[in-house]
Amino acid sequence: MRIGMIHRVLDSIKAFRLDCKEAKRRSEVMKVRKALHKQYRKRKHSLVCLLLIATVTASCKHHEEEYHSVVDKIEAKSKDYKETSISSEIFIQDLHTIEISEGGHTFLIPERKGQIKSYACTECHTKPLAQLKGKDLKKAHWNLTLRHADEHTMNCITCHNGNDMDNLKSLTGAKIDFNKSYNLCKQCHTKQFEDWKGGAHGKRLESWANPRASMTCVNCHNPHKPSFEKRWPAKFNTQKVKERK
Ligand code: HEC
Ligand code: HEC
Ligand code: HEC
Ligand code: HEC
Repeated sequence: MRIGMIHRVLDSIKAFRLDCKEAKRRSEVMKVRKALHKQYRKRKHSLVCLLLIATVTASCKHHEEEYHSVVDKIEAKSKDYKETSISSEIFIQDLHTIEISEGGHTFLIPERKGQIKSYACTECHTKPLAQLKGKDLKKAHWNLTLRHADEHTMNCITCHNGNDMDNLKSLTGAKIDFNKSYNLCKQCHTKQFEDWKGGAHGKRLESWANPRASMTCVNCHNPHKPSFEKRWPAKFNTQKVKERK
Protein backbone atom coordinates (compact mmCIF):
# COMPACT_ATOMS: atom_id res chain seq x y z
CA MET A 1 0.00 0.00 0.00
CA ARG A 2 2.69 2.46 1.07
CA ILE A 3 4.95 1.40 -1.76
CA GLY A 4 2.05 2.10 -4.18
CA MET A 5 1.67 5.60 -2.83
CA ILE A 6 5.38 6.25 -3.13
CA HIS A 7 5.26 5.04 -6.73
CA ARG A 8 2.37 7.40 -7.52
CA VAL A 9 4.17 10.32 -5.92
CA LEU A 10 7.32 9.46 -7.87
CA ASP A 11 5.25 9.16 -11.05
CA SER A 12 3.62 12.53 -10.54
CA ILE A 13 7.06 14.09 -9.87
CA LYS A 14 8.28 12.48 -13.06
CA ALA A 15 5.26 13.77 -14.92
CA PHE A 16 5.78 17.24 -13.46
CA ARG A 17 9.40 17.23 -14.58
CA LEU A 18 8.38 16.06 -18.02
CA ASP A 19 5.79 18.86 -18.13
CA CYS A 20 8.47 21.31 -17.13
CA LYS A 21 10.75 20.04 -19.88
CA GLU A 22 7.95 20.19 -22.39
CA ALA A 23 7.09 23.72 -21.38
CA LYS A 24 10.73 24.73 -21.70
CA ARG A 25 10.97 23.09 -25.11
CA ARG A 26 7.80 24.80 -26.23
CA SER A 27 8.95 28.19 -25.08
CA GLU A 28 12.22 27.62 -26.95
CA VAL A 29 10.30 26.61 -30.02
CA MET A 30 8.21 29.75 -29.69
CA LYS A 31 11.37 31.83 -29.41
CA VAL A 32 12.76 30.27 -32.56
CA ARG A 33 9.42 30.76 -34.28
CA LYS A 34 9.26 34.38 -33.23
CA ALA A 35 12.79 34.93 -34.45
CA LEU A 36 11.93 33.22 -37.71
CA HIS A 37 8.78 35.30 -38.06
CA LYS A 38 10.73 38.46 -37.44
CA GLN A 39 13.23 37.46 -40.07
CA TYR A 40 10.44 36.58 -42.44
CA ARG A 41 8.75 39.93 -41.89
CA LYS A 42 12.04 41.68 -42.46
CA ARG A 43 12.57 39.75 -45.68
CA LYS A 44 9.01 40.42 -46.76
CA HIS A 45 9.55 44.11 -46.13
CA SER A 46 12.73 44.28 -48.17
CA LEU A 47 11.13 42.13 -50.85
CA VAL A 48 8.25 44.58 -51.12
CA CYS A 49 10.77 47.41 -51.29
CA LEU A 50 12.72 45.55 -53.92
CA LEU A 51 9.60 44.91 -55.94
CA LEU A 52 8.63 48.56 -55.67
CA ILE A 53 12.03 49.73 -56.86
CA ALA A 54 11.95 47.13 -59.59
CA THR A 55 8.57 48.29 -60.85
CA VAL A 56 9.58 51.93 -60.70
CA THR A 57 12.82 51.38 -62.56
CA ALA A 58 11.12 49.05 -64.99
CA SER A 59 8.54 51.71 -65.83
CA CYS A 60 11.30 54.32 -66.19
CA LYS A 61 12.98 52.19 -68.75
CA HIS A 62 10.90 53.61 -71.56
CA HIS A 63 10.64 52.18 -74.99
CA GLU A 64 12.17 54.48 -77.54
CA GLU A 65 9.52 57.23 -77.79
CA GLU A 66 7.85 57.06 -74.38
CA TYR A 67 8.58 59.67 -71.71
CA HIS A 68 7.29 60.36 -68.23
CA SER A 69 6.61 63.98 -68.76
CA VAL A 70 6.98 66.68 -71.32
CA VAL A 71 9.99 68.00 -69.40
CA ASP A 72 11.68 64.56 -69.65
CA LYS A 73 11.00 64.48 -73.34
CA ILE A 74 12.39 67.97 -73.88
CA GLU A 75 15.50 67.11 -71.86
CA ALA A 76 16.05 63.87 -73.77
CA LYS A 77 15.44 65.43 -77.14
CA SER A 78 17.60 68.47 -76.54
CA LYS A 79 20.64 66.44 -75.54
CA ASP A 80 22.07 66.44 -79.03
CA TYR A 81 20.52 69.76 -80.03
CA LYS A 82 22.62 71.98 -82.18
CA GLU A 83 21.59 75.62 -82.63
CA THR A 84 19.12 76.25 -85.40
CA SER A 85 20.66 76.99 -88.73
CA ILE A 86 17.82 79.37 -89.60
CA SER A 87 19.04 82.93 -89.89
CA SER A 88 17.54 86.12 -91.27
CA GLU A 89 20.96 87.23 -92.47
CA ILE A 90 20.29 86.49 -96.13
CA PHE A 91 17.03 88.49 -96.03
CA ILE A 92 18.45 91.60 -94.42
CA GLN A 93 21.92 91.69 -95.96
CA ASP A 94 20.82 94.08 -98.71
CA LEU A 95 19.14 96.49 -96.30
CA HIS A 96 21.14 99.43 -95.09
CA THR A 97 20.99 98.97 -91.31
CA ILE A 98 22.83 100.20 -88.24
CA GLU A 99 23.40 98.31 -85.01
CA ILE A 100 22.15 99.73 -81.73
CA SER A 101 22.40 98.57 -78.11
CA GLU A 102 19.66 99.58 -75.70
CA GLY A 103 19.34 98.17 -72.19
CA GLY A 104 20.82 94.78 -72.99
CA HIS A 105 19.07 94.47 -76.35
CA THR A 106 21.34 94.63 -79.37
CA PHE A 107 19.64 94.76 -82.76
CA LEU A 108 19.57 96.41 -86.15
CA ILE A 109 17.40 99.30 -87.30
CA PRO A 110 17.16 100.77 -90.81
CA GLU A 111 19.55 103.56 -91.63
CA ARG A 112 17.53 106.77 -91.98
CA LYS A 113 19.55 109.70 -93.33
CA GLY A 114 19.55 108.28 -96.85
CA GLN A 115 15.74 108.22 -96.76
CA ILE A 116 15.22 111.85 -95.77
CA LYS A 117 14.56 113.91 -98.88
CA SER A 118 15.87 117.25 -97.66
CA TYR A 119 18.97 115.86 -95.94
CA ALA A 120 21.62 117.22 -95.55
CA CYS A 121 19.73 120.17 -94.10
CA THR A 122 22.88 122.31 -94.09
CA GLU A 123 22.65 122.56 -97.87
CA CYS A 124 20.29 125.46 -97.11
CA HIS A 125 20.64 125.91 -93.36
CA THR A 126 23.99 127.61 -93.46
CA LYS A 127 22.69 130.57 -91.48
CA PRO A 128 20.61 130.87 -88.32
CA LEU A 129 16.88 130.45 -88.85
CA ALA A 130 16.07 134.09 -88.19
CA GLN A 131 18.24 135.16 -91.11
CA LEU A 132 16.77 132.51 -93.39
CA LYS A 133 13.30 133.63 -92.55
CA GLY A 134 14.18 137.27 -92.83
CA LYS A 135 15.04 136.94 -96.50
CA ASP A 136 12.26 137.10 -99.02
CA LEU A 137 12.56 133.42 -99.75
CA LYS A 138 9.95 131.05 -101.00
CA LYS A 139 8.65 129.18 -97.95
CA ALA A 140 10.73 126.03 -97.85
CA HIS A 141 8.75 123.56 -95.73
CA TRP A 142 5.31 124.71 -96.79
CA ASN A 143 3.94 121.16 -96.89
CA LEU A 144 4.91 120.51 -93.30
CA THR A 145 2.48 121.17 -90.46
CA LEU A 146 3.05 120.01 -86.93
CA ARG A 147 0.19 117.91 -85.52
CA HIS A 148 1.81 116.20 -82.60
CA ALA A 149 1.47 117.77 -79.14
CA ASP A 150 -0.15 121.19 -78.74
CA GLU A 151 1.86 124.31 -79.60
CA HIS A 152 2.62 125.19 -75.96
CA THR A 153 4.33 121.84 -75.53
CA MET A 154 6.13 121.52 -78.83
CA ASN A 155 7.42 123.44 -81.83
CA CYS A 156 10.06 122.79 -84.48
CA ILE A 157 12.88 123.68 -82.10
CA THR A 158 11.76 121.10 -79.52
CA CYS A 159 13.37 118.49 -81.76
CA HIS A 160 15.49 120.41 -84.30
CA ASN A 161 18.50 122.56 -83.58
CA GLY A 162 18.47 125.89 -85.45
CA ASN A 163 22.25 126.11 -85.10
CA ASP A 164 22.93 122.50 -86.14
CA MET A 165 20.16 121.42 -88.50
CA ASP A 166 21.92 118.18 -89.52
CA ASN A 167 21.26 116.78 -86.07
CA LEU A 168 18.24 116.48 -83.86
CA LYS A 169 18.37 117.67 -80.27
CA SER A 170 17.11 116.40 -76.93
CA LEU A 171 15.06 118.49 -74.50
CA THR A 172 18.28 119.25 -72.63
CA GLY A 173 20.09 120.32 -75.81
CA ALA A 174 22.11 117.12 -76.41
CA LYS A 175 22.86 116.13 -80.01
CA ILE A 176 20.82 113.23 -81.44
CA ASP A 177 21.73 111.60 -84.75
CA PHE A 178 18.92 111.37 -87.36
CA ASN A 179 19.69 107.64 -87.60
CA LYS A 180 18.85 107.25 -83.93
CA SER A 181 15.78 109.45 -83.72
CA TYR A 182 14.14 106.96 -81.32
CA ASN A 183 16.23 108.71 -78.66
CA LEU A 184 14.05 111.74 -79.29
CA CYS A 185 10.78 109.87 -78.90
CA LYS A 186 11.80 107.97 -75.77
CA GLN A 187 12.05 111.21 -73.80
CA CYS A 188 8.28 111.51 -73.73
CA HIS A 189 7.03 108.05 -74.77
CA THR A 190 8.97 105.90 -72.30
CA LYS A 191 6.40 103.13 -72.19
CA GLN A 192 6.36 102.60 -75.97
CA PHE A 193 10.14 102.81 -76.07
CA GLU A 194 10.50 100.11 -73.40
CA ASP A 195 8.09 97.88 -75.32
CA TRP A 196 9.84 98.56 -78.60
CA LYS A 197 13.24 97.68 -77.13
CA GLY A 198 12.00 94.25 -76.11
CA GLY A 199 10.17 93.76 -79.39
CA ALA A 200 6.58 94.20 -78.13
CA HIS A 201 5.88 97.49 -79.94
CA GLY A 202 6.67 97.81 -83.62
CA LYS A 203 7.63 95.15 -86.10
CA ARG A 204 10.55 93.06 -87.29
CA LEU A 205 12.04 93.40 -90.71
CA GLU A 206 11.84 90.35 -92.97
CA SER A 207 12.15 87.51 -90.47
CA TRP A 208 11.90 86.45 -86.82
CA ALA A 209 15.19 84.58 -86.78
CA ASN A 210 18.36 86.20 -85.48
CA PRO A 211 20.03 88.57 -86.17
CA ARG A 212 17.15 90.81 -85.13
CA ALA A 213 16.31 93.75 -87.36
CA SER A 214 13.42 95.97 -86.26
CA MET A 215 11.67 98.99 -87.67
CA THR A 216 12.35 102.20 -85.81
CA CYS A 217 9.70 104.72 -84.63
CA VAL A 218 9.88 106.97 -87.71
CA ASN A 219 9.42 103.99 -90.05
CA CYS A 220 5.81 103.92 -88.86
CA HIS A 221 5.12 107.28 -87.23
CA ASN A 222 5.59 110.58 -88.99
CA PRO A 223 7.25 112.67 -86.25
CA HIS A 224 5.28 115.73 -87.34
CA LYS A 225 1.95 113.92 -87.39
CA PRO A 226 2.51 110.67 -85.47
CA SER A 227 -1.06 109.62 -84.75
CA PHE A 228 -2.72 107.16 -87.10
CA GLU A 229 -6.11 108.08 -88.50
CA LYS A 230 -8.90 106.13 -86.88
CA ARG A 231 -10.74 103.97 -89.33
CA TRP A 232 -13.48 101.40 -89.47
CA PRO A 233 -12.70 97.84 -90.39
CA ALA A 234 -13.39 97.20 -94.07
CA LYS A 235 -16.99 96.14 -94.44
CA PHE A 236 -18.44 94.17 -97.24
CA ASN A 237 -21.66 96.13 -97.47
CA THR A 238 -23.98 97.38 -100.19
CA GLN A 239 -21.79 100.46 -100.57
CA LYS A 240 -18.76 98.31 -101.34
CA VAL A 241 -20.75 96.15 -103.74
CA LYS A 242 -21.82 99.34 -105.60
CA GLU A 243 -18.24 100.62 -105.65
CA ARG A 244 -17.01 97.42 -107.20
CA LYS A 245 -19.47 97.54 -110.11
C1 HEC B 1 16.06 123.62 -99.96
C2 HEC B 1 16.56 124.31 -98.80
C3 HEC B 1 16.28 123.71 -97.43
C4 HEC B 1 16.60 122.45 -97.00
C5 HEC B 1 17.29 121.32 -97.76
C6 HEC B 1 16.16 122.38 -95.65
N1 HEC B 1 15.57 123.55 -95.26
FE1 HEC B 1 14.70 123.94 -93.48
N2 HEC B 1 14.26 125.83 -94.09
C7 HEC B 1 14.63 126.36 -95.29
C8 HEC B 1 14.22 127.77 -95.32
C9 HEC B 1 14.45 128.69 -96.48
C10 HEC B 1 13.62 128.01 -94.08
C11 HEC B 1 13.06 129.32 -93.57
C12 HEC B 1 11.80 129.72 -94.27
C13 HEC B 1 10.70 128.78 -93.96
O1 HEC B 1 10.24 128.76 -92.82
O2 HEC B 1 10.29 128.11 -94.90
C14 HEC B 1 13.64 126.78 -93.36
C15 HEC B 1 13.11 126.63 -92.08
C16 HEC B 1 13.25 125.50 -91.32
C17 HEC B 1 12.76 125.35 -89.96
C18 HEC B 1 12.01 126.39 -89.15
C19 HEC B 1 10.54 126.40 -89.54
C20 HEC B 1 9.73 127.33 -88.71
O3 HEC B 1 8.54 127.47 -89.04
O4 HEC B 1 10.23 127.89 -87.72
C21 HEC B 1 13.11 124.10 -89.54
C22 HEC B 1 12.84 123.47 -88.18
C23 HEC B 1 13.79 123.47 -90.63
N3 HEC B 1 13.85 124.33 -91.68
C24 HEC B 1 14.30 122.20 -90.56
C25 HEC B 1 14.96 121.57 -91.60
C26 HEC B 1 15.55 120.28 -91.49
C27 HEC B 1 15.51 119.41 -90.24
C28 HEC B 1 16.09 119.98 -92.69
C29 HEC B 1 16.79 118.73 -93.07
C30 HEC B 1 16.14 117.48 -92.79
C31 HEC B 1 15.86 121.14 -93.55
N4 HEC B 1 15.17 122.09 -92.84
C32 HEC B 1 16.29 121.23 -94.85
C33 HEC B 1 15.24 125.73 -96.33
C34 HEC B 1 15.65 124.41 -96.32
C1 HEC C 1 8.78 115.54 -82.20
C2 HEC C 1 10.00 116.04 -82.78
C3 HEC C 1 9.93 116.89 -84.03
C4 HEC C 1 9.31 118.10 -84.17
C5 HEC C 1 8.51 118.83 -83.14
C6 HEC C 1 9.58 118.52 -85.51
N1 HEC C 1 10.34 117.60 -86.16
FE1 HEC C 1 11.00 117.72 -88.04
N2 HEC C 1 11.75 115.87 -87.90
C7 HEC C 1 11.79 115.10 -86.77
C8 HEC C 1 12.40 113.84 -87.05
C9 HEC C 1 12.63 112.73 -86.07
C10 HEC C 1 12.72 113.87 -88.41
C11 HEC C 1 13.36 112.75 -89.21
C12 HEC C 1 12.25 111.90 -89.77
C13 HEC C 1 12.69 110.69 -90.53
O1 HEC C 1 13.64 110.03 -90.09
O2 HEC C 1 12.08 110.42 -91.55
C14 HEC C 1 12.31 115.15 -88.92
C15 HEC C 1 12.49 115.54 -90.21
C16 HEC C 1 12.25 116.84 -90.66
C17 HEC C 1 12.48 117.30 -92.00
C18 HEC C 1 12.97 116.46 -93.15
C19 HEC C 1 11.77 115.79 -93.78
C20 HEC C 1 12.03 115.13 -95.10
O3 HEC C 1 11.36 114.12 -95.38
O4 HEC C 1 12.86 115.60 -95.86
C21 HEC C 1 12.11 118.59 -92.05
C22 HEC C 1 12.19 119.52 -93.26
C23 HEC C 1 11.64 118.95 -90.75
N3 HEC C 1 11.72 117.85 -89.93
C24 HEC C 1 11.18 120.17 -90.39
C25 HEC C 1 10.46 120.43 -89.26
C26 HEC C 1 9.72 121.65 -89.02
C27 HEC C 1 9.66 122.82 -89.99
C28 HEC C 1 9.13 121.51 -87.81
C29 HEC C 1 8.18 122.47 -87.12
C30 HEC C 1 7.02 122.82 -87.88
C31 HEC C 1 9.51 120.22 -87.28
N4 HEC C 1 10.29 119.60 -88.18
C32 HEC C 1 9.13 119.71 -86.03
C33 HEC C 1 11.31 115.46 -85.53
C34 HEC C 1 10.57 116.59 -85.29
C1 HEC D 1 8.57 116.56 -75.93
C2 HEC D 1 7.80 115.35 -75.77
C3 HEC D 1 7.54 114.49 -76.99
C4 HEC D 1 8.46 114.01 -77.89
C5 HEC D 1 9.95 114.26 -77.96
C6 HEC D 1 7.73 113.13 -78.77
N1 HEC D 1 6.40 113.14 -78.42
FE1 HEC D 1 4.93 112.06 -79.29
N2 HEC D 1 3.55 113.01 -78.17
C7 HEC D 1 3.82 113.91 -77.16
C8 HEC D 1 2.59 114.46 -76.66
C9 HEC D 1 2.47 115.46 -75.52
C10 HEC D 1 1.56 113.85 -77.42
C11 HEC D 1 0.07 114.16 -77.36
C12 HEC D 1 -0.56 113.62 -76.14
C13 HEC D 1 -1.09 112.28 -76.37
O1 HEC D 1 -1.88 112.10 -77.31
O2 HEC D 1 -0.72 111.36 -75.62
C14 HEC D 1 2.19 112.95 -78.34
C15 HEC D 1 1.53 112.10 -79.22
C16 HEC D 1 2.14 111.10 -79.95
C17 HEC D 1 1.46 110.04 -80.65
C18 HEC D 1 -0.04 109.86 -80.78
C19 HEC D 1 -0.57 109.22 -79.54
C20 HEC D 1 -2.00 108.80 -79.69
O3 HEC D 1 -2.56 108.38 -78.67
O4 HEC D 1 -2.54 108.88 -80.79
C21 HEC D 1 2.41 109.24 -81.23
C22 HEC D 1 2.17 108.01 -82.05
C23 HEC D 1 3.67 109.83 -80.90
N3 HEC D 1 3.49 110.95 -80.12
C24 HEC D 1 4.89 109.35 -81.36
C25 HEC D 1 6.08 110.01 -81.20
C26 HEC D 1 7.30 109.67 -81.90
C27 HEC D 1 7.43 108.55 -82.89
C28 HEC D 1 8.25 110.53 -81.48
C29 HEC D 1 9.69 110.61 -81.93
C30 HEC D 1 9.91 110.92 -83.34
C31 HEC D 1 7.64 111.41 -80.51
N4 HEC D 1 6.33 111.08 -80.39
C32 HEC D 1 8.30 112.42 -79.80
C33 HEC D 1 5.07 114.24 -76.69
C34 HEC D 1 6.25 113.96 -77.34
C1 HEC E 1 5.88 98.76 -87.01
C2 HEC E 1 5.32 100.05 -86.80
C3 HEC E 1 5.57 100.79 -85.50
C4 HEC E 1 6.79 101.09 -84.92
C5 HEC E 1 8.18 100.70 -85.38
C6 HEC E 1 6.47 101.89 -83.75
N1 HEC E 1 5.11 102.05 -83.64
FE1 HEC E 1 4.14 103.16 -82.25
N2 HEC E 1 2.37 102.48 -82.92
C7 HEC E 1 2.19 101.68 -84.04
C8 HEC E 1 0.77 101.35 -84.17
C9 HEC E 1 0.15 100.49 -85.25
C10 HEC E 1 0.12 101.99 -83.09
C11 HEC E 1 -1.35 101.96 -82.73
C12 HEC E 1 -2.02 103.13 -83.36
C13 HEC E 1 -3.50 103.20 -82.99
O1 HEC E 1 -3.94 102.42 -82.13
O2 HEC E 1 -4.17 104.05 -83.55
C14 HEC E 1 1.15 102.70 -82.33
C15 HEC E 1 0.90 103.50 -81.23
C16 HEC E 1 1.84 104.32 -80.64
C17 HEC E 1 1.55 105.36 -79.65
C18 HEC E 1 0.18 105.72 -79.17
C19 HEC E 1 -0.13 105.07 -77.84
C20 HEC E 1 -0.33 103.61 -77.96
O3 HEC E 1 0.49 102.87 -77.39
O4 HEC E 1 -1.30 103.18 -78.62
C21 HEC E 1 2.74 105.93 -79.31
C22 HEC E 1 2.95 107.05 -78.31
C23 HEC E 1 3.77 105.27 -80.09
N3 HEC E 1 3.18 104.32 -80.88
C24 HEC E 1 5.11 105.59 -80.03
C25 HEC E 1 6.10 104.84 -80.64
C26 HEC E 1 7.51 104.99 -80.37
C27 HEC E 1 8.11 105.99 -79.40
C28 HEC E 1 8.17 104.09 -81.17
C29 HEC E 1 9.64 103.81 -81.24
C30 HEC E 1 10.34 103.57 -79.99
C31 HEC E 1 7.17 103.39 -81.96
N4 HEC E 1 5.93 103.87 -81.58
C32 HEC E 1 7.43 102.43 -82.91
C33 HEC E 1 3.17 101.27 -84.90
C34 HEC E 1 4.53 101.38 -84.67
